[in-house]
Amino acid sequence: MKQPDFRLLFEGAPGLYLALTPDLKIVAASEAYLRATRTQRAAIIGRDLFDVFPDDPDANVHASLDRVREQRVADTTNSPVLDDKGELAYIIHRLGEPTADKLRTRAMVAEQDLESFSYSVSHDLRAPLRVIDGFSLALLEDHGPSLPAEGQDLLGRLRLQAQRMAQLIEGLLQFSRLGRKPLEVAPVDLAALAQTVAQELQQANPDRAVEINVSGVPPAMGDRGLLRQVLTNLIGNAFKFTRRRPDAQVVVGSREDNGERVYYVRDNGAGFDMRYASRLFGVFQRLHSADEFEGIGVGLALVQRIIHRHGGRVWGEGRVNEGATFSFTLGGAA
Ligand SMILES: Nc1ncnc2c1ncn2[C@@H]1O[C@H](COP(=O)(O)OP(=O)(O)O)[C@@H](O)[C@H]1O
Ligand SMILES: [Mg+2]
Repeated sequence: MKQPDFRLLFEGAPGLYLALTPDLKIVAASEAYLRATRTQRAAIIGRDLFDVFPDDPDANVHASLDRVREQRVADTTNSPVLDDKGELAYIIHRLGEPTADKLRTRAMVAEQDLESFSYSVSHDLRAPLRVIDGFSLALLEDHGPSLPAEGQDLLGRLRLQAQRMAQLIEGLLQFSRLGRKPLEVAPVDLAALAQTVAQELQQANPDRAVEINVSGVPPAMGDRGLLRQVLTNLIGNAFKFTRRRPDAQVVVGSREDNGERVYYVRDNGAGFDMRYASRLFGVFQRLHSADEFEGIGVGLALVQRIIHRHGGRVWGEGRVNEGATFSFTLGGAA
């Protein structure tokens, strides 16, 4: 049986749906499902249902799946899609509100755990790092002149790496602090905010000629300070990754998608390989080397955390050497 266009089927469906193969590989997911579980489509398609959600909060799910697979019996959670020979082709898996609620809570707890973990790790790493940095400086100052050139060079590199580590820790600390402050939701003029961020970037990089276009961006409801961080990171990335283009262009825009407001930042820069798209938002995850484009890989993790706190979603689309587009929604807050 030819795979049905699940995207089309699910579009506009407010429910939480997955389409599964008979051996429980995920082939499609509704927007509402992705929203509730805070997953990205690219991160779950092709994977096993219980790989992605190892401890499904619905205790009856196994029995229900068995009934569909063995007897083609539908219930409120799972229903079979049969091919023209009457064989099971797909299973439509539906999550009820109580299950969805549990998944939402779990996603929230996981983020809070990561945050408090980041906090203690970064906090504890600071002290020994300071000692390393201090001793290597003392060594350089007190004994540098008596070291051969190669020794001085090594010491210099040691200090450089210690400083890079300090930056990483700083990024981790910044990330861990995000969840601590309550959201202050108010109307925010995102277009004006984007213009300000663009101007700041241009002033800070007078050697770059980047055309930044902000248009059709309606105001949103959200935390102004946090949304500013979102735009600073997304427009900052667009600015950075267009460095090798003489005709660098960045567009900040918005559209309506299935009745949902989507904001985006698009550039014509280095782009990235879509196969790794879901990794981008992890702490310290980078698809470009620090030699090529400087950075520590915390920006998008911050962006995702902020967007999730607003109840929205963020995703990236790109092609190597053909630019990237980062889009976000603001969920209930917008
Ligand atoms: N506009 C973009 N174009 C191409 N790649 C991008 C873009 N924005 C982000 N990325 C990729 O995502 C990675 C993570 O981004 P981010 O978390 O902001 O870290 P950093 O900017 O420090 O590299 C980047 O290293 C890069 O590989
Ligand atoms: Mg960045």
